[in-house]
Amino acid sequence: MYETVVDLTTGHWIQLILAESNKTLMKLFATIFYLTIFLSSLFSYYFFKKEKRRHKNRAKLPPGSMGWPCIGETLQMYTQDPNVFFASKLKRYGDIFKTQILGYPCVMLASPEAARFVLGAQPQLFKPTYPKSKENLIGPSALFFHTGNYHTCVRKLVQSSFSPEVTQKLTPDIEKIALFSLESWANGQVINTFHEMKKYAFEVGILSIFGQLNKTYTDKLKENYSILEKGYNCFPTKLPGTAYHKSLMARRRLNQILGEIVKERKEKKLLTNNLLGHLLNFRDEKGNALSEEQIADNIIGVLFAAQDTTASVLTWILKYLNDDPKLLDVVKGEQKALCESDYGENQSLTWSMTRKMPLTYKVILESLRKASIISFTFREAAVDIEYDGYLIPKGWKVMPLFRNIHHNPEFFAHPEQFDPFRFENPPKPNTYMPFGYGIHACPGNELAKLEMLVLLHHMLTKYRWELVGPSDLIQYSPFPVPEHGLRARFKKEF
Ligand code: HEM
Ligand SMILES: *[C@@H]1O[C@H](CO)[C@@H](O)[C@H](O)[C@H]1NC(C)=O
Ligand SMILES: *[C@@H]1O[C@H](CO)[C@@H](O)[C@H](O)[C@H]1NC(C)=O
Ligand SMILES: *[C@@H]1O[C@H](CO)[C@@H](O)[C@H](O)[C@H]1NC(C)=O
Repeated sequence: MYETVVDLTTGHWIQLILAESNKTLMKLFATIFYLTIFLSSLFSYYFFKKEKRRHKNRAKLPPGSMGWPCIGETLQMYTQDPNVFFASKLKRYGDIFKTQILGYPCVMLASPEAARFVLGAQPQLFKPTYPKSKENLIGPSALFFHTGNYHTCVRKLVQSSFSPEVTQKLTPDIEKIALFSLESWANGQVINTFHEMKKYAFEVGILSIFGQLNKTYTDKLKENYSILEKGYNCFPTKLPGTAYHKSLMARRRLNQILGEIVKERKEKKLLTNNLLGHLLNFRDEKGNALSEEQIADNIIGVLFAAQDTTASVLTWILKYLNDDPKLLDVVKGEQKALCESDYGENQSLTWSMTRKMPLTYKVILESLRKASIISFTFREAAVDIEYDGYLIPKGWKVMPLFRNIHHNPEFFAHPEQFDPFRFENPPKPNTYMPFGYGIHACPGNELAKLEMLVLLHHMLTKYRWELVGPSDLIQYSPFPVPEHGLRARFKKEF
């Protein structure tokens, strides 16, 4: 997920080595790291030679270049605009090509059929793959690292906790969080939109995981989680003082806090219809419950999956609306009309009102397409696999390229244009996968869309905003977001 999470996050492989590089110590480690890569590349050179022989009489490898041994094409991918990197490959080799990322041989797939083949395949063919350092921070038992029985069980619990019926009931509480957030932005200060959206998405995440949670716990979770997340894309060294080490320590404190919450809920028998309740109530066929560690890892995993994704999409929506004042007026019109026709005596939003926002909804769909914040995901071939006449050897990484599919003019005319009205006609099958596809597809997509609709409703009807130092540059954090998180000033409209 989120490069995803799958690394849920896109940039993880690379970011590992680029982070913190201003520190001398880090530079030393980076040097050692590169040296290791270089040496292992020598090995891999011989390995590939052998591989070639092994597969001589079978399907052929996809076209493409492997770059310098092992350092591969990573540097190119991360120093060029990723769109340019992929586009030039696609032009040269077609929709399926091989390359090398941080020493891992890799097949990239930019056709909807190929993406569907990989993501929809039997779990024994392709498995999820993340950097170990990330797994250790989030927690190795989080569902997105797994396939098979354990994944299926936990996924069922997560899906039932975020089903449309459960999510729907959260509307009034999400609305409170949205109103509170907006109020806090409208004090004349310049805000970093992305940071503020992250706070909003975190609160909604906490609500959907725990239901109502004592503010003391929420604050401790928030503080410690924000230390944890700084380690996600750093160079992983356990030396004290480094961001990665601080992050590991915060992760331990998070376990402690979660342990306290679990203890209290068990004592008060508060095992309700939210994710924590479902995780605590679960028993397998033999009557075994999940361990505390499995519960904690999945809670942190869901927070991770839910926060930056939703926040960066919301940030892009503001940017796209701001870039098109005419569209902004029409969307505001849709939202204001709802206030006049549908508000009850309490002036509050209901779930059924969120179903009457067709244009706002299309703005969300188009933002998910254009921003494609999860631009690709990773899987690993668990066995030798043949697809479309090509061999994908066991152990190779496979990357479905969502962004390239979403930006292919064959499926989306003038893909660089922001045009919500294109969604008046449904996209061709499998060409639109902002929430992924198959057994690891996003179980939080209903919640994500609901929290975006609720926030947008109040923002568009009660506030106006202007961008501060607008720019078209993009920062990768590691999700793409507008530069400086889109600085803006909010004002309440009376
Ligand atoms: C706009 C916001 C979001 C986007 C674009 C998004 C996108 C995705 C994508 C593409 C995947 C699949 C990754 C892969 O196959 O490798 C995924 C998985 C996942 N998402 Fe989301 N997501 C969003 C919000 C959320 C929210 C709010 C939650 C929490 C409730 C959530 C929870 C998860 C989980 C737990 C998985 C892993 C599922 C599994 O491995 O079985 N996501 N998401
Ligand atoms: C929240 O927790 C604190 C400290 O554990 C406690 O003093 C307070 O009474 C709790 N508040 C509620 C509403 O339960
Ligand atoms: C983190 O969690 C601990 C509890 O384990 C708490 O005492 C602390 O205040 C929290 N915040 C920080 C910044 O450590
Ligand atoms: C409005 O709020 C009052 C008190 O909070 C509540 O009793 C009433 O049911 C609400 N009305 C609607 C239409 O939600």
